[in-house]
Amino acid sequence: MTFTAPIQLPGLTLDPQWYRKSVFYEVMVRSFVDSNGDGTGDLGGLIGKLDYLQWLGVDALWIPPIFSSPMRDGGYDIADYKSILPDFGTIDEFRELVTKAHERNMRIVIDFVINHTSDAHEWFQQSRSDPDGPYGDFYVWSDTDEKWKDIRVIFVDTEESNWTFDPVRRQFFFHRFFSHQPDLNFNNPAVHDAVFDVVRHWLGLGVDGLRLDAIPYLYESDEGNGEGEPPTHEFVKRLRAMVDQEFPGRVLIAEANQWPQEVVAFFGTEEEPECHMAFDFPVMPRIFYSLRSQSAAELERILAETVDIPEGSAWGVFLRNHDELTLEMVSEEYRQAMYGWYAYDPRMRSNIGIRRRLAPLLDNSRAELELAHALLFALKGSPFLYYGDEIGMGDNIWLPDRDASRTPMQWTPDRNAGFSTADPGKLYLPVIQSLVYNYNLVNVESQLAQSRSLLHWVRNVIHVRKSHVAFGLGSLEVVSTNHDSVLAFVRDYEGSGAPFGGDAAESILCVFSFAHNPVSVTVQLPEHAGAPLYDLFGGAEFPTVGEDGAVTLTLATQSFYWLHIGTPRRG
Ligand code: GLC
Repeated sequence: MTFTAPIQLPGLTLDPQWYRKSVFYEVMVRSFVDSNGDGTGDLGGLIGKLDYLQWLGVDALWIPPIFSSPMRDGGYDIADYKSILPDFGTIDEFRELVTKAHERNMRIVIDFVINHTSDAHEWFQQSRSDPDGPYGDFYVWSDTDEKWKDIRVIFVDTEESNWTFDPVRRQFFFHRFFSHQPDLNFNNPAVHDAVFDVVRHWLGLGVDGLRLDAIPYLYESDEGNGEGEPPTHEFVKRLRAMVDQEFPGRVLIAEANQWPQEVVAFFGTEEEPECHMAFDFPVMPRIFYSLRSQSAAELERILAETVDIPEGSAWGVFLRNHDELTLEMVSEEYRQAMYGWYAYDPRMRSNIGIRRRLAPLLDNSRAELELAHALLFALKGSPFLYYGDEIGMGDNIWLPDRDASRTPMQWTPDRNAGFSTADPGKLYLPVIQSLVYNYNLVNVESQLAQSRSLLHWVRNVIHVRKSHVAFGLGSLEVVSTNHDSVLAFVRDYEGSGAPFGGDAAESILCVFSFAHNPVSVTVQLPEHAGAPLYDLFGGAEFPTVGEDGAVTLTLATQSFYWLHIGTPRRG
C-alpha cells in the first residue's frame, strides 16, 4: 500500500476539518499594534505579534474590515472592497500577513460585508447621480418610505427608519444599519457578479475564510421581515458552491443574530450546503445569565433546543466581540434582569445590548472569568476570543457607541501601553486608564511575568482543549444533576477510524457550577456506570461512577471540572 502525501499550501496542514478544531481570535487591526507611530494600529504591527498569538495557541485570526472606508462604523462602511485603508497598510503587507500566518499554520479569516456599502462607495455615488447608468439599480430605491413596515430597525439608538431620503436622486434608499450604509440590491444579478468578483479577489490572495457579516438581511419582501428570506439562502448556496469548486478548504462563517432554528438554516443541508460555521448567538447571553442567576436551567434549555447541524459544520462560540453584547435573543424579562446585573449605568447600554468588555462585565472576578472561559472552550463548536480578553482588559463607557470596547491593546506599562509611540493625544482612541483596568496594571508584559496570571491560565486551557479533539469534533449531551446551579454535559467522540494520524475516541464529562457558594452535586451517567474519572488538567483520579450510574462531586464557588471518562473496571 502506498500513502500519498496530502497537497499542502506553504506551511498549512491540509485538514478539511480545520475550522472545527481551531481556536479563533478576533483582532481589530486598528486596535492591536501601531508599527509606524501614527496612532493607529496596522498590518505591520499585527505581523509583529504573530509569535505572541502562536504562543497563546491561536489557530485562526478573524480580522474585521481593513478596506478603504470613511470609518463611520469601524470599517463596516466599505468604500472600496479591493483596496486597503492606507492607515492600516498596503496589499503587500496583507500578503505578507497571510504568508507569515500560514508559515505558523495559522489561518486568516476576513470580514466580508455584502449587505451594504458605505455611501462613499463609487457604486452608490453613481447610483444616486445616474439612475439609468450601470449602477442605477445597485441599491434599493423607492419613491416612498412606507414600504416593508414589518422590517425592524436594528440600530435603534441612532436610526428611526430603514429608509433615508437622498436629495440627489430624490428617492428613498433602504438601509438595515446606519443611514450612511445603503443596502445593496440583491435582486440585481449584476450585484451578484460584483460580490463574486470580490470573493475571488480575496480568496485568490490566500484568505482562508470569510465572515459573512449581517448575512440574513440580503433580501427583503412584502411578505417577510427581511431576515433569512428564501432568496437570501439561494444566494448563499450559490456562493458556497462557487467557493467549494474554486477554493476548496476555505470556509464561510455566518453572522446571523437569530434563534437556533433560523441560524441553523444558514448551514443549509448536506446536499445544498450554505455556511461551514455560524456564530451561536442564542447560547452567548445565557452564559452571562447563568453566572448571575446561579441557575443552569436557561443554558440547559437552549442546549437542548440547539438542533442538529449538517455533518462537517460547526458553531462559533463566543463571549464577547467588537459589537455590543446583544440581548436580542432573550425574552424581555431576562433582558431586564441582564440590564440590571450587567448595565446598571445607562451608558453601558447600546441598542438592544451592553457595550462592555468581558472582565468589567464579570466585575473582574477571576472565578467568573475562568468559569466563562471554561464554558467557551467546552461547548459545542469552535471558540472565538476577542483581543485583550485574554488579559482581562477593561473598557471605557465614556467613549461613544461600541468604541467603549475597541481601545488599544495593552502590551506594556510604558507610554500608550506599548501600543504606539505616537503622542498620546494622537491615538485613534485613548488607552484605558481606569482604577482597576489601568494599562499600568493590566498588560501582556506583566501577565507574562506572573505564572498565575489570567493570560497564562487562558493559554493553558487553550492547550488542554486542543489536545482533546472531542471538544472540537464530539457530540454534546446534557446529563441530569440534582442541583439547579450545576450544568453537566458529556462531549463524546467516536474516533476517526483512520489508521494513521487519526483522532482517538474519547468521552469527557464537563461540570460547571454557577452557585455563589460551594456545592455538592450528584451527576447521572448511566452509560458510564463503573467508569473511573480523571481530571484533564492534572490527571488526578476522581471518584468512580457508581454501579448505579451516579457520581457525587463537590465544586468550589463558581468552578468547573473537565473529566476524562475512562473504561469501566468490571469484576
Ligand atoms: C455587523 C457588525 C457590526 C456592524 C454591522 C453593520 O453586525 O458586526 O459591527 O456595525 O454589521 O455593518
